[in-house]
Amino acid sequence: MKHAINHQKSSQPIPGLGVIVMAAGLGKRMNSNNAKVLHHVAGQAMVLYAVDVALRLAGHRIAVVVGHQADRVQQVVEAGVVGRPGAELLHIVKQAEQLGTGHAVMQSRPVFLDEKAARPTQYLILNGDTPLLKEQTVCELLRTHQSQGATVTLLTAKLEDPTGYGRVIRRESNGSHGSVAPPDVLKIVEDRDATPDERATHEINVGTYVVSGEFLFDALDKLEPDNAQGELYLTDIVHMAVAQGRRVAAATLQDPDEGLGVNTRQQLAAAEQVVRQQIRECWLDAGVTMRDPRSVWIDAGVTIGKDSVLYPNVTLEGTTVIGEGTTIHSGVRISDCVIGNDVEVLDHCVLRESHVDDEAHLGPFVHLRPGVVVRRKAKVGNFVEMKKTELGEGSKANHLSYLGDATIAENVNIGAGTITCNYDGVRKHKTVIGKNVFLGSDTQLIAPVTVGDGSVVAAGTTVTQDVPPDSLAIARVAQTNRVGWVAKRRAVLAIGISNGNSARVAVASKTTAKKALPKPKKGRAKSAKR
Ligand code: UD1
Ligand code: MG
Repeated sequence: MKHAINHQKSSQPIPGLGVIVMAAGLGKRMNSNNAKVLHHVAGQAMVLYAVDVALRLAGHRIAVVVGHQADRVQQVVEAGVVGRPGAELLHIVKQAEQLGTGHAVMQSRPVFLDEKAARPTQYLILNGDTPLLKEQTVCELLRTHQSQGATVTLLTAKLEDPTGYGRVIRRESNGSHGSVAPPDVLKIVEDRDATPDERATHEINVGTYVVSGEFLFDALDKLEPDNAQGELYLTDIVHMAVAQGRRVAAATLQDPDEGLGVNTRQQLAAAEQVVRQQIRECWLDAGVTMRDPRSVWIDAGVTIGKDSVLYPNVTLEGTTVIGEGTTIHSGVRISDCVIGNDVEVLDHCVLRESHVDDEAHLGPFVHLRPGVVVRRKAKVGNFVEMKKTELGEGSKANHLSYLGDATIAENVNIGAGTITCNYDGVRKHKTVIGKNVFLGSDTQLIAPVTVGDGSVVAAGTTVTQDVPPDSLAIARVAQTNRVGWVAKRRAVLAIGISNGNSARVAVASKTTAKKALPKPKKGRAKSAKR
């Protein structure tokens, strides 16, 4: 899980920091059959954005709380952290019933209050539906927590339209005249529970908290579901801390976009726009040229080398890696591929789960299905489809071919219209083509079959048996030339037309032509019929 917008130098894990990611909710307002946190933003499940921050900062353990579609969420999270530093700290905990954000955090107790291990000194708690939050912002929040000696520190944002968010309610004033600091936070009130006055507040709770280790679980034990939704709200720990005379600190986002919580499809679309733009800017800064940046789509997990050029309407998806100096022309979609340096991909190609080595040349209109390897300086051209096939160094398949389940060695010429007939209706079979082979146009290879090194297959041949090395394989019907046939036919048709009646002429000329035209030579009659 690489993250373009987090490619900046990342922070060190913070000793004693436990991280909790809440990802158990259904997300009713999404109106979806899928759990909210599984919806994608820039090609990556929303929950993985929070998990990414957790992996970078956790010095203690990480608890990801799953509930709605728990197995699927767990699968996505586990697959997303494979090979990442910090992955060993991650624990999945289940919230069987979704009784609120406070209840969600309570489920992580066994992960952190393990008798055998030291307990976290502080917790970072993240909503799983806030994909724009940056690691640097969280680091600043942690610093605020430290510097202010706070028990709870929360992240806030000032929004023009705060509808739906929890409002941050502050004291009337700090008491000290002339103070420039905003008044202290008193509590968080959810939209549904707020009075009209409270609802008029534009400062909202982003859903990112730092909480002291000794306070969190004791406070959670005291939560009451006395609110409009009958839930245990995590946000109530803020007022609880204030009531105990503890310090509650707050940091406000410079860029309120970062605090966008995704509860609806509209918010999902808004988040997508923001992330896509950040990703484009990141790669532009890293030395990638984009002819029309707004039309280029790059997923969060993509990597692009410098001096590569992306033409309009290019889509790079999943974990695609593009090398340096590679040019990708308009209308190309590449998913989960590794593309080398100095590769050229001409317009309108679709490439999936394939590997293209340096200096290869693809397109236009190439379809690489999963499992293709195109070796250095090889060429795949107009209307060629490939699947589970290796095309050797310098080999060419330039026109109108299907190559499936094949191994093709170096310097092979695949003639136009070549087809590997790899499927017998039940099973798939392999085709092996040795080096320096020349396949003429319109060759069909009935797999399993092998063409030995240096062989030539004549155009129009259906190869049904192995071809030994350095041999010519030819299997096609011998040609017949009927000398003068066309001239005589033309003459017959001309007589018909000069007689004037075209309908009758057509019938007459057919019969006359039969008589007039020369008979094929004996022994060739059969093939001539074809
Ligand atoms: C929450 C905050 C609100 C804040 C907003 C920011 C509470 C009570 N409210 O509201 O103050 O302004 O986020 O976006 O915390 N979840 C669970 N288990 C549950 C319920 C929720 O794991 O039982 C998870 C969800 O999957 C989600 C996160 O917690 O990732 C937040 O839940 P959500 O229902 O989106 O809360 P909001 O109404 O947005
Ligand atoms: Mg939310």
